[in-house]
Amino acid sequence: MRVLSIVGARPQFVKLAPVAEAFAATATEHVIVHTGQHYDARLSDVFFADLRIPAPDVHLGVGSGSHGVQTGTMLAALDAVLDEHRPDWVLVYGDTNSTLAGALAAVKLHLPVAHLEAGLRSFNRRMPEEHNRVLTDHAADLLLAPTSVAMGHLAAEGLGERSVLVGDVMTDVCFRVRDAVLAAPPGPPLPGDYVVATIHRAENTDDPDRLAAVVDALDGLSTDVLLLAHPRLVARCHAFGIKLEREGGSLRVAEPLAYPQMVAAVLGSSGVVTDSGGLQKEAYLLGRTCTTLRTETEWVETLADDWNVLAADLTGLDAIVRRPVPSAEQGTPYGDGHAAERVVAALL
Ligand code: UD1
Repeated sequence: MRVLSIVGARPQFVKLAPVAEAFAATATEHVIVHTGQHYDARLSDVFFADLRIPAPDVHLGVGSGSHGVQTGTMLAALDAVLDEHRPDWVLVYGDTNSTLAGALAAVKLHLPVAHLEAGLRSFNRRMPEEHNRVLTDHAADLLLAPTSVAMGHLAAEGLGERSVLVGDVMTDVCFRVRDAVLAAPPGPPLPGDYVVATIHRAENTDDPDRLAAVVDALDGLSTDVLLLAHPRLVARCHAFGIKLEREGGSLRVAEPLAYPQMVAAVLGSSGVVTDSGGLQKEAYLLGRTCTTLRTETEWVETLADDWNVLAADLTGLDAIVRRPVPSAEQGTPYGDGHAAERVVAALL
């Protein structure tokens, strides 16, 4: 069997890691195509190195652009690649423009498509990721769902027969890296108490008033805030004249971290403030509270017992962020850390 994985953005490299490892334990030929959506070494190369992912076989070098230009450039470039490799399965991951381009290119060439992390829904049609998910699910032949909630969404859209519950591959990689970090803990990224923060979604970064309000709210928290600044955040702040680091404020701005350093930073923190999808779940898996600066989340399981709290309007943010760790025990909605093996089995 030949499987061709299409990835391009940071969260997809994390999901690719356990899947590539699971393929390596079989006779499957696994071809990795990197679209180049994320091209900064901090968002791309370090993930391949740290998570021991084989180097991409093909790199499309697409880079940044408007949604149409970015997605269209990938589409145009993928035809020849898919034609050359003629895989038994094209595997696409998550909800980025690379996901949608990969799915669309493959179905047009009558190649079977499997969607990993299928069935997630925010029901917010203003999010580019929501269209990418819905369109990819409806184009794909096999839907690999991470949770039973996702399975329910797929069934409700008439896609139940194509869907398989495999669990969440991010649990696989998160637990593996957590154990390695705990075996040899690095020094703390900041002295004393701190929360980890990331902001990059269009709904928080593209409007100057909204972005200024988010940055002010983070800077006003009563604990240090380790802000791991995504290039989109830095670019928008620069364009809008918003200063990130101010005298006397709480923000401590740092570069995006490699995956093991990110896990270590969350483990050393008292909580997470984010608009990322993956980080909400990683906070949950690592037993830290999360405050999500969005009006909704796809990862609704994290909301149980206030492990994750939605705080888009920023009112009373400090009290929310500083709430105590819930005493209720967590369930295991994201699987047992063996999802990648089930992905491979489903494709086989
Ligand atoms: C993308 C995904 C999002 C995912 C996120 C993870 C889409 C629509 N969005 O958002 O679902 O959660 O990746 O990070 O696919 N930039 C750089 N260097 C890079 C990459 C981006 O400087 O390596 C800057 C550019 O200014 C670019 C902007 O970030 O225009 C946005 O990048 P883009 O790939 O469009 O989306 P992300 O915000 O990273």
